[in-house]
Amino acid sequence: MPGQPAAGATHARGNAAAVAEPFGTAPDGTPVDRWTLSNGPVTVRVLTYGGIVQSVEVPDAGGRVTNVVLGFADLAGYVEHNNPGPYFGALIGRFGNRLAGGRFTVDGRTHQLPLNEGPNTLHGGPEGFDRQVWTTTDVSDGEVAGVRLTLVSPAGHQGFPGTLTTVVTYTLDAASRLTVHYEATTDAPTVVNLTNHTYWNLSGEGSGNVHGHVLQLDAEGYLPIDGTLIPTGESAPVEGTPFDFRTPTAIGDRLRAGHEQLVRARGYDHTWVLGPTGEEELRRAAVLHDPASGRTLTVATTEPGVQFYSGNFLDGTLVGTGGRVYRQGDGVALETQHFPDSPNQPGFPSTELRPGRTYRSTTVFELPGDVRAG
Ligand code: GLA
Repeated sequence: MPGQPAAGATHARGNAAAVAEPFGTAPDGTPVDRWTLSNGPVTVRVLTYGGIVQSVEVPDAGGRVTNVVLGFADLAGYVEHNNPGPYFGALIGRFGNRLAGGRFTVDGRTHQLPLNEGPNTLHGGPEGFDRQVWTTTDVSDGEVAGVRLTLVSPAGHQGFPGTLTTVVTYTLDAASRLTVHYEATTDAPTVVNLTNHTYWNLSGEGSGNVHGHVLQLDAEGYLPIDGTLIPTGESAPVEGTPFDFRTPTAIGDRLRAGHEQLVRARGYDHTWVLGPTGEEELRRAAVLHDPASGRTLTVATTEPGVQFYSGNFLDGTLVGTGGRVYRQGDGVALETQHFPDSPNQPGFPSTELRPGRTYRSTTVFELPGDVRAG
């Protein structure tokens, strides 16, 4: 019978859906929507403002559903506090992480960006992608709930050359995988480094710190930083340091180890080197497990690095989605990306994008709900 699911279809078929609702108005008057992606027991909310992942609701081992990402309850929270600030859940562009001196050179031409963190430019500048309203379309197909976001950044925006057209697709499948796929094209040579800045607390946002979460990072090396958190250019072995997460280790175990690099960043705020990878090849980067709730997050990516940031700048001044205040270490970001400051570091993989080429990047956040079959 037409329209009827095929025999053997899982109960998730037909259950996957994306629905938009109004979520206020951006400072420039543009209406903002909030998309709700649902699939089985998992619900993800995405704002057209900044492409922000506002919430990710997943069951724990006992079936209790909780929001496991940090954020704000309303649009005003993001507009007023997210940049400068924690960049909760946001799409970061055009250039994730730091560019030393806010400067880079492409084809012999030097570009100066606005500085927004001491001497450097952080996360694409004061009016980065996290503060833009993206246009969206529903790309759900019954088995996967999805929304596609598009942003055309004009040449010269935040100092970057080239008109950059960026398309980001969030999909939520029946295996509790949230996939973020990025594509970008330009009409003039430029640099691009896109990421998503979600903070995880697998016990639930607002539940306290994540120092008891056990982290595994599939990396032999990390990038030491200078006093302004710019990589020195060297890749250092993790062996014998608090940066060795090759075997699962609680985040809090070595946070107070007195290591110079940890003092510089007030904790972990470094890139782990995932090794060479082709742009189509997904590889596991991180596994984050919370013994208290039984939840596990696995992160896989096509990117060469992951920035593990232990929420060092959260200082008790922001009230989160559920009405609780966030303090230092109350969430962790695992930002898959090219290395910080790549355009100024000849030894790092290139972040240049030229006309006729397409930037492609994929990251998968997998959060199995043990009760899915129940
Ligand atoms: C990234 C940076 C951190 C911090 C956060 C936002 O993770 O590496 O230093 O700026 O963004 O607070």
